[in-house]
Amino acid sequence: MRYKVPPIPSSEITPEHVYLSRRKFMREALVLAAGSALAACAPTPNDTPNSTPGQEPTLLPDTPNDFEQITNYNNFYEFTTDKDRVAILSTAFVTSPWQVSVEGMVNKPGIYDIDAIRSQFAQEERVYRMRCVEGWSMVIPWNGFALNQLLKVVEPTSDAKYVRFTTLYDPQQMPGQKSSYFAWPYVEGLRLDEAMHDLTLMATGLYGKDLLPQNGAPLRLVVPWKYGFKSIKSIVKIELTDQMPVSLWMDAAPNEYGFYANVNPDVSHPRWSQASERRIGESGRRPTLFMNGYADEVAGLYTGMDLAKNY
Ligand code: MTE
Repeated sequence: MRYKVPPIPSSEITPEHVYLSRRKFMREALVLAAGSALAACAPTPNDTPNSTPGQEPTLLPDTPNDFEQITNYNNFYEFTTDKDRVAILSTAFVTSPWQVSVEGMVNKPGIYDIDAIRSQFAQEERVYRMRCVEGWSMVIPWNGFALNQLLKVVEPTSDAKYVRFTTLYDPQQMPGQKSSYFAWPYVEGLRLDEAMHDLTLMATGLYGKDLLPQNGAPLRLVVPWKYGFKSIKSIVKIELTDQMPVSLWMDAAPNEYGFYANVNPDVSHPRWSQASERRIGESGRRPTLFMNGYADEVAGLYTGMDLAKNY
């Protein structure tokens, strides 16, 4: 199966004058995130809108970002917090050989070589929007395979409720890990039903090429309806567990970053609104879509949950 960003009926595209006046309003409404406790995952002034009450969600065209943009504007704190320098600082990162351990509450644990992963699970292309919690977004044509394929092979036991992912820990190669500001290595987690959802991707490439280090080579998670920080890079361990994983961001700032991190324009980050976003390559801002536009597919996972509490 191949997921595309939905086609946009022309009736739903904002007339240009409305879009332009909204952009002007947004520009004038820009505020700086005041006194941020965390240097991390704090938006640049450009990424920080004021709230935009009463704004109707509007569908705008989703054109994939180009390769240059996707590979030169990155968040990968293991190397640097400077998005423009991740690419240059990660060129020597060794991604082959690479092994991923799948362990914990599974009947068939195993250590997988990245080449075996690539050949065992049929690779497909998925064009997904990615919305960073900081308020910027891209559209990325990933190559990879549904995580559920791998999980079915290792057979989670009936006790397994969550999946915990861990990035490589190697401060020699990843100088950012020498900083004691974060509890390295980077950890992320999903509920098992989220991990089993067909939209949840293990990416090995983009634009038909193997992933570059800056995008999380050789294997990263992509969960398109969640803020980008859930999409953990350069994974070495996948662990099935009955405990809700505590992610690096939950540990660093629990009042700002929760376990679910579903994209939600109605639930503000404590320091900025999430109502709109800056699409890389565009000027102005566009409205943020509930569940990043994937609600038809995934909202059922959260039936009966208070999404403001489970942020
Ligand atoms: N994974 C690791 N290990 N370290 C990180 O710093 N940053 C996250 C996520 N995965 C990050 C990570 C954040 S905040 C975002 S927005 C995306 O990666 C960015 O992915 P990209 O650089 O490929 O666009």
